[in-house]
Amino acid sequence: MKITDALLGEHAVIYLLLGHLEQSAGSYESAAEARTQGALLAASLGSHAELEDELLFCELESELGAGFGPLEVMRAEHADIEGTIALLRDVDDAAEARRLAEHIAAAARGHSAKEEQVLFPLAENALGEETLLRVGELWAARRLGG
Ligand SMILES: [Fe+2]
Ligand SMILES: [Fe+2]
Repeated sequence: MKITDALLGEHAVIYLLLGHLEQSAGSYESAAEARTQGALLAASLGSHAELEDELLFCELESELGAGFGPLEVMRAEHADIEGTIALLRDVDDAAEARRLAEHIAAAARGHSAKEEQVLFPLAENALGEETLLRVGELWAARRLGG
């Protein structure tokens, strides 16, 4: 499987998680509930961003050169989303938890849409089928190998 298809499949699951986050954030009864959700997001979104960066972004960078603008933007967005998830994992106040959760959901939706509309098509053009398949094998090994 091509790495871009593998990551697209992960996005489909991420959208389900974000839908759940958006639904539950409005009715957080305690900060503890939000912290549990923060831990789940760190494991899921965090692991997705990490693999995306290590496998796809690094490959693109070696093809296109360091400092390629769209990659810098994607990495800055990963950092913003991960930083906000870290805040959610430690939050003490339910209203603040709602604000953080809403930011994570909106940022992750916008970010994923940009990857789907701009970055993944760009990667498909820049890397070519053989590389996309080879990196897709690495993705499968990482996911199955834990
Ligand atoms: Fe990403
Ligand atoms: Fe992604």
